[in-house]
Amino acid sequence: MKASRVIDLLNSKETGIEVSVKGWVRTKRGNKQVAFIAINDGSIIHSIQAVADLGKFDEETLKQVTTGACISVSGTLVPSQGQGQKVEIQADSIEILGAADESYPLQKKGHSMEFLREIAHLRPRTNTFGAVFRLRHHMSFAIHKYFNDRGFFYLHSPIITGSDAEGAGEMFRVTTLDLNNIPRDENGDINFKEDFFGKSTNLTVSGQLEGELAAMALGQVYTFGPTFRAENSNTPRHLAEFWMIEPEMAFYDIKDNMDLAEDFLKYLVSYALEYGMEDLEFLNNQYDKELINRLKFVVENPFERLTYTKAVDVLMASGKKFEFPISWGTDLQKEHENYLVEHFKRPVILTDYPKAIKAFYMKQNDDENTVRAMDILFPWIGEIIGGSQREENYEKLQRRIKEMHIPEEELWWYLDTRKYGACVHSGFGLGFERLMLFITGMTNIRDVIPFPRTPKNAEF
Ligand code: 4AD
Ligand code: MG
Repeated sequence: MKASRVIDLLNSKETGIEVSVKGWVRTKRGNKQVAFIAINDGSIIHSIQAVADLGKFDEETLKQVTTGACISVSGTLVPSQGQGQKVEIQADSIEILGAADESYPLQKKGHSMEFLREIAHLRPRTNTFGAVFRLRHHMSFAIHKYFNDRGFFYLHSPIITGSDAEGAGEMFRVTTLDLNNIPRDENGDINFKEDFFGKSTNLTVSGQLEGELAAMALGQVYTFGPTFRAENSNTPRHLAEFWMIEPEMAFYDIKDNMDLAEDFLKYLVSYALEYGMEDLEFLNNQYDKELINRLKFVVENPFERLTYTKAVDVLMASGKKFEFPISWGTDLQKEHENYLVEHFKRPVILTDYPKAIKAFYMKQNDDENTVRAMDILFPWIGEIIGGSQREENYEKLQRRIKEMHIPEEELWWYLDTRKYGACVHSGFGLGFERLMLFITGMTNIRDVIPFPRTPKNAEF
């Protein structure tokens, strides 16, 4: 008989039918007559209970039904006598597909998140990580659906690049040079001409620049891929490898950009509420009783929009003693972002930042001091989206590249778009794991990606 998924059995309208299921044993308990075996196959947060009359099964088999073992159970699906489930399986046969060694580290008692990170190869088998990774899937799917439904095209931007899109110098080098015998040129510098690509290359920090090229042809595009940053920030909100969604739209100004970003975030949160409710309920009950309320609030209320300059006024007027003192021109720290979100009691979109603290490609305002940036700040997370209208004027862009000492010869192809049919355009980047932090209520970004990459950590 073909095995059914636990989700389908638990939702089955029919009972009295022969069924079979394959999965991993979560718990086994019982008495002298029967054993109750909870089997989970990952299709849903809940396990299905199999009831085994001890008289029917040999001891050897039942001994191997231990937490962590993989088994196949066949029997009759019956209404459950016990509480907590509508149906259960009255077992006729049990096959051990893969026994679990006694050293299996996941037991019923709750484990700390820190401990679970050390066994990241097994943590997907916990209720918590099952819920997180199912929600991660739902959100990935929703992202593609959102853009596809609105006529955006999915663009695959390169992972290996020669440019530093954000200009922050936080890149991982990609090379095949022999590190024990580095070729030098006549000046004694590393001779990248001998490297694989004949030039210096790195893992991308952003797909935006290529996204812009495509938007100048396809109109509305988005990227969704891994990005890499060698910033040495060991915080609960930074990863060295994270996934980013970067839409880029021809003919969008900053207002259109903000409208899209707000609509997009609300869509994703409501999608989670619609398709991930069982997992959300688990996380809500287990960790954070406000989680679902917070998600609903974001969907139902408009975001606050104000300029960086006004935000600085609010922060200065607060009378609060910040660890990092605030004045016009300084970059906002986590504590400032938190204050603003709490002050307005909702997500906040800040625009028109000082040009000195933003990337070269942002549209310059007439005041000469600010650029048409937009950052979206979320409760607890801080910055979840960073974006801007782009500078489409060739001369202004070129001047800014020079001012910021960015090697122009690396960006000739980017500048070309400003020579051939330039237009107003905008885009933004959503950090996928920051979104997942908000959706799941997890408090550390290492717990919303299957195998986190952080400083001094690339196990698994
Ligand atoms: O603000 P950022 O650096 O913007 C860009 O990369 C632009 N190229 C986006 C664009 O306009 N197309 O990064 C965008 C978002 C941040 O708001 C944050 O959510 C996330 O990416 N992010 C990180 N997430 C996890 N770990 C890190 N180290 C991150 N750095 C940025
Ligand atoms: Mg940013």
